[in-house]
Amino acid sequence: MAGRILLTGGAGYIGSHTFLALRAAGYDPVILDDFSNANSDVPDRLAHISGAPVAVLRADIRDESRLRQIFADHDFDAVIHFAAKKAVAESVAKPLLYFDTNIGGLLTLTTVMAEHGCKTIVFSSSATVYGEPDETPTPETAPRRAINPYGQTKIMSEEILESMVKADPDWTVGILRYFNPAGAHPSGLIGENPRDIPNNLMPYIAKVAIGELPEIQVFGSDYDTPDGTGVRDYIHVEDLAQAHLLSLQSLLQKRKSHLVNIGSGQGYSVLEMVKAYSRACGRDLPYRIVDRRPGDVPIYCAKTGKAEEILGFRSQYDLDAICASSWRWISGQN
Ligand code: NAD
Ligand code: WQD
Repeated sequence: MAGRILLTGGAGYIGSHTFLALRAAGYDPVILDDFSNANSDVPDRLAHISGAPVAVLRADIRDESRLRQIFADHDFDAVIHFAAKKAVAESVAKPLLYFDTNIGGLLTLTTVMAEHGCKTIVFSSSATVYGEPDETPTPETAPRRAINPYGQTKIMSEEILESMVKADPDWTVGILRYFNPAGAHPSGLIGENPRDIPNNLMPYIAKVAIGELPEIQVFGSDYDTPDGTGVRDYIHVEDLAQAHLLSLQSLLQKRKSHLVNIGSGQGYSVLEMVKAYSRACGRDLPYRIVDRRPGDVPIYCAKTGKAEEILGFRSQYDLDAICASSWRWISGQN
């Protein structure tokens, strides 16, 4: 066995796919989740796909005494820390909830990890730390700028982790700045399916494709982009899961921290996404151009060379594979 790894937020969208990648690579992943944003049947689905029982701890990362008990009971080699609140608009309305969960949770977790001599962590950061970048594709050296409380929590988390590494070289930290995760597992058994009206483009398109929502609203067509709509770097969640595996292996083997972008390096506009999804589901999806969404930036696209150089990571799946997997997942729901 390659090591026992705690996945906080492991029942969520990215955590559940990473669970399968770790298990396939011979690791012993353990899920910790409070199920505030995950379906309770995810562990059963993961057990079904991987053919073995799934270890799940229902807990809140802010519950210090519970975490102490969990670390005393398990000998973890490393942690992948996904658990966080992630909705930008909600973070503007409820900043304290975001600071409490994302910052308070990180502080509690790393304090308990240090007490138990577990000092290897992969952290879910986000391209949102670039705010409105001056440069695209955006390199990791671009300045960090927060444009909402969610972004602030990711910048602060990165800074906290960097200070920990400086103070104690036994800590090895992998900071992964994801661009726009999309798609689902090829089995069609796990994926992203928000309970409410989705905030993000891909799950919104998916709900229009299955007829749950009437039409896609395209937020602005007057950006300085080839077709005027927003451009993003969509990365297949299966590629993202592999990136976590590579990050973890690098930390455990080389004992050296890293901070890298995880994207495909390829940008697609909202209209290109609508077309690609229409191909996947076999009909032209209805859309309407509406006003820009406040706070949106025209283009996010990753400079990807550093992840390739340090981790050997390169995305494998293209846009059609992303849309096909999303459609397989969403059309199998309900
Ligand atoms: P998700 O909401 O599907 O997964 C997060 C999981 O954490 C959920 O299962 C939720 O139940 C759990 N959780 C939340 N608060 C908790 C708490 N206090 N204690 C224990 N568990 C808790 O989100 P995701 O898309 O899988 O995102 C995972 C991570 O990646 C987050 O840190 C997010 O900020 C980051 N990220 C996501 C995206 C994206 O677009 N999905 C992009 C960049 C970064
Ligand atoms: C993509 C494009 C919209 C919805 C967000 C967070 C970011 C990260 C990923 C966590 C934009 C347009 C969207 C819709 C649309 N999350 N759009 N109609 O804004 O790039 O990033 O998720 O870290 O922090 O900010 O993703 O999917 O919301 O938008 O036209 O109904 O689609 O304007 O151009 P975004 P998104």
